Amino acid sequence: MTTANADSSALSAYVHRWIPGDERIALLLHGTGGNEDDLLPLATMLLPGASVLALRGNVLEGTMPRFFRRLAEGVFDLDDLAKRTTQLADFVRAAATAYEFDLTRLTAIGFSNGANIAANVLLRHPGLIRQSILFRAMVPAETTPDRAAVGTRVYIGAGQRDPIIPADNVRRLDELLRDTGADVTLEWRNAGHGLTGEDIDGAKRWLAGA
Ligand code: MLT
Repeated sequence: MTTANADSSALSAYVHRWIPGDERIALLLHGTGGNEDDLLPLATMLLPGASVLALRGNVLEGTMPRFFRRLAEGVFDLDDLAKRTTQLADFVRAAATAYEFDLTRLTAIGFSNGANIAANVLLRHPGLIRQSILFRAMVPAETTPDRAAVGTRVYIGAGQRDPIIPADNVRRLDELLRDTGADVTLEWRNAGHGLTGEDIDGAKRWLAGA
C-alpha cells in the first residue's frame, strides 16, 4: 500500500477499512452507534464489486461512535460539525492519494448520522464528492451554498413516518443541495427511520440511471 504521499494525519483521523475492488469506490458512513462494518452489506447490494472505504465515526457519545457531536436528538454541535466536516473532506482527499483511486468515481453511502455528515460535506465542499446516497438524512446546518457542484448527483431516501426527521426538514435539505447545483433525487418510502428493501431498490434504480 502506498501511503507515502498522502497526508497521514488526515488519513489517521478515522479507523477505517479499505477493501480494493473495481474502479468505483463506496465510501460508507454509518449511523449513530455503528462501525465500519455496518454498511458493508449495503455496499455489496448497491455497488457489487466496487472498492470499499468504510469509516468508523471518530466521536463517541457514551460508547456509540458518531461523525460529529450532538447536544440532543436532532440538535447538533455546529462547531464540532464544522470541524468534523473539514476532517472528513481532508480524509477523502488523503485516501484518494493513499489508495490511488479516482475521487470522481467515489459514491458516498450514508445512513442517518453518516448521511448527515455526508450532506454537510456536499454543502461545504461542493464538487468534492460527485455521487451520494443519503438514507434518512436531515439538514446538518443552515447555510447558503456555493453553486459549485454541477455534475454532482445525490439520492435522498426519506421515510414518511420517520419519527426523527420531519418531512419539512428533508424538503429543505433537498432545496439546499439543489442550490449547490447538484442533480438531486428525493424519494419517499412508507417507512420510519430504519431502512427497508424498497430503499435499497430505489437507490439501485437511481444508480442504474447514472
Ligand atoms: C442519529 O441518531 O444518528 C440522528 O438521527 C441523526 C444525527 O444525530 O446525526
